[in-house]
Amino acid sequence: MSDNWLHRFSVLLAALTLFLVVAGASVTSNEAGLSVPDWPLSYGKVMPEMKGGVFYEHGHRMIGATVGLLTIVLAVWLQLRDERRWMRRLGWIALAAVILQGVLGGLTVLWLLPKPVSIAHASFAQLFFSLTVAIALFTSRAWRQGPEIVEDHGSPSLRTMALLTAVAVLGQIALGAAYRHRALGLMPHVIAAFLVLAIALLAAMFTLQQFPRHRHLRPAATALLVIVLAQVLLGIAAYVARIYTTESLEPPAVMVFFTVLHVAGGGLAMASSTVFGIQIVRHVRRPLESVQREVSVVS
Ligand code: HEM
Ligand code: HEM
Repeated sequence: MSDNWLHRFSVLLAALTLFLVVAGASVTSNEAGLSVPDWPLSYGKVMPEMKGGVFYEHGHRMIGATVGLLTIVLAVWLQLRDERRWMRRLGWIALAAVILQGVLGGLTVLWLLPKPVSIAHASFAQLFFSLTVAIALFTSRAWRQGPEIVEDHGSPSLRTMALLTAVAVLGQIALGAAYRHRALGLMPHVIAAFLVLAIALLAAMFTLQQFPRHRHLRPAATALLVIVLAQVLLGIAAYVARIYTTESLEPPAVMVFFTVLHVAGGGLAMASSTVFGIQIVRHVRRPLESVQREVSVVS
């Protein structure tokens, strides 16, 4: 089978993982986390009756199992067909990550939703999703065509800004999860949102300004810009939906809709900052003289 099929399969895995994130977020937003008390079986069965919260909780587990199986196939496929050693390793890292994520999910059930485990499960999910997106990028034809090197004359360097953006988005996801699982208030998450927005805007604008026609940097920077901006708006919508529905006994559909969308947006923000960082590292070099200056300062 051609490399194209391997790429298509990686895209499928990434898309299914985003769906899994949506399914997981639906468990939390519908307060269905404890509707199945046991794990790895559900009410002692592989397939319990899918009524009430069980629909969300067991549904999430089934999608999780499918993603796990597809990750095994991907790791083996990469091992057999990819000539790049680091790529074969990445396949096994993805498999280890999905197993760890599944175990964290199981522990949230067995230990009755302990906050640190729920927060870790929520945050690590977005890292795993970003890893599947990165694998889809690395198996694409565009990636295999090689880099289109350009020189970065700005300061701070785009590499530094891209790294800061990805770290800030990850921190923001953890703060969002800490709020959603009642370990922290909302304020740290809202304040940090402006920081994340500022860093991502600067990184994307600097890139677009310096390399407006670059085939890989331009789409990566535009995606980052659009997704982070949309995510801030979704955050406001999630907040408004939450506060206007606090009186309801059942989780209202409008709150579930916006909070789930905001969690999915968090995954897309993490993935877009990861892809942006990867593309910067691949295509952008510092001008030779400034690298030499940095080396002479260090030595
Ligand atoms: C294998 C990959 C998995 C991924 C990517 C994933 C992802 C997610 C995500 C994104 C959430 C939402 C967190 C939030 O909204 O704060 C979630 C919630 C949840 N997941 Fe998973 N999950 C996976 C596997 C599992 C497994 C195997 C279980 C087994 C029981 C599980 C149990 C749960 C539970 C109980 C919740 C709700 C927890 C809470 O509200 O604290 N997950 N998952
Ligand atoms: C770049 C900006 C942002 C990112 C990446 C982000 C990401 C996230 C993520 C991933 C979660 C859920 C974590 C989990 O899975 O448990 C979350 C929760 C939340 N975020 Fe944000 N967020 C951002 C900006 C904002 C802003 C500006 C607000 C405005 C108030 C906001 C309000 C909320 C609220 C209310 C929740 C909890 C939802 C609920 O009630 O269940 N977010 N955020």
